[in-house]
Amino acid sequence: MNELTSNDLPFRHLLGIEGLSPDDITEILDLSDQYVAQNRQVDKKRSILGGRTQINLFFETSTRTRTSFELAGKRLGADVINMSATASAIKKGETLIDTAATLNAMHPDALVVRHPHSGAVALLSQKMDCSVINAGDGSHEHPTQALLDALTIRRRLGHLHGLTVAICGDILHSRVARSNIMLLSIMGAHVRAIAPPTLLPGAVERMGVEIFHNMAEGLKDVDIVMMLRLQNERMNGAYVPSTREYYHFYGLDQAKLAKAKPEALIMHPGPMNRGVEIDSDLADDINRSVIREQVEMGVAVRMAVLDLLSRRSTNQPPVGPEEAAPNGRPEGPGEAAS
Ligand code: NCD
Repeated sequence: MNELTSNDLPFRHLLGIEGLSPDDITEILDLSDQYVAQNRQVDKKRSILGGRTQINLFFETSTRTRTSFELAGKRLGADVINMSATASAIKKGETLIDTAATLNAMHPDALVVRHPHSGAVALLSQKMDCSVINAGDGSHEHPTQALLDALTIRRRLGHLHGLTVAICGDILHSRVARSNIMLLSIMGAHVRAIAPPTLLPGAVERMGVEIFHNMAEGLKDVDIVMMLRLQNERMNGAYVPSTREYYHFYGLDQAKLAKAKPEALIMHPGPMNRGVEIDSDLADDINRSVIREQVEMGVAVRMAVLDLLSRRSTNQPPVGPEEAAPNGRPEGPGEAAS
């Protein structure tokens, strides 16, 4: 697996959770909390990123992540352009590096990228003068998903430290699992990985997780049950005998959930396959499932990340929704973005 990460410059780009400190994560989550409040108001818009341009470049399909980044940029006042690989010169054979050079020449201030290959976003970031945010690269990382999951948990349970979180399903192909394992470990949570042997990466033990192949054992007394989708599009051949058998052993149903703590929360990054990895009624259980809340947190987290990155690149503290002047940054539009 490609190990290109955000180690060098954790805040000019957000390429992954790897390399972030507990303080970095706490800073993003604290600012996100403020944006959650702003997003619940009638007037959701600020001009913090007024005059700036954000390009969303998606080489893979996406509903919630792309919409969420678009809303986040627009609510902060940026001009947001959406580009999909199917409707661009990439279809005509342009290389990733040439695409980066072309976009760079247009002076964007932030580039949000999703790509099917692990490491592609980090490669692209080396060619860009602006901040690059990884919106999911292959099976490598999906940092804003892990941050929004952490925000959802923290707002419900008050903290992350000491919690036991079970991540269940197709861990092998999941960038969500990798980013979550890293973030939760950094913040002092205990992570369990529950999956059939065919759907676990070889090196997963080295990430400090406890491995289970049996849901009843793995879910015992956990605080959080995080389900993952079977990533069929990343599978070459069959990793499970059938979806029916997979559901029988690894799908979340009432009987398996009964092993977790009585107040344990159910999470899923979406898109969900009802009846494959999760029982439909449990997915909609208003007392246990926080799946819709995760979507709400996603917009706030992405606003916080865009705000922080724009501020970091000019060495100034984040503005946040409270301090921002209603019509733009107090210091005016003359500053450079990155
Ligand atoms: C995830 C992804 O794309 O990695 N979805 C998302 O971003 N909300 C998980 C998935 O596709 O299963």
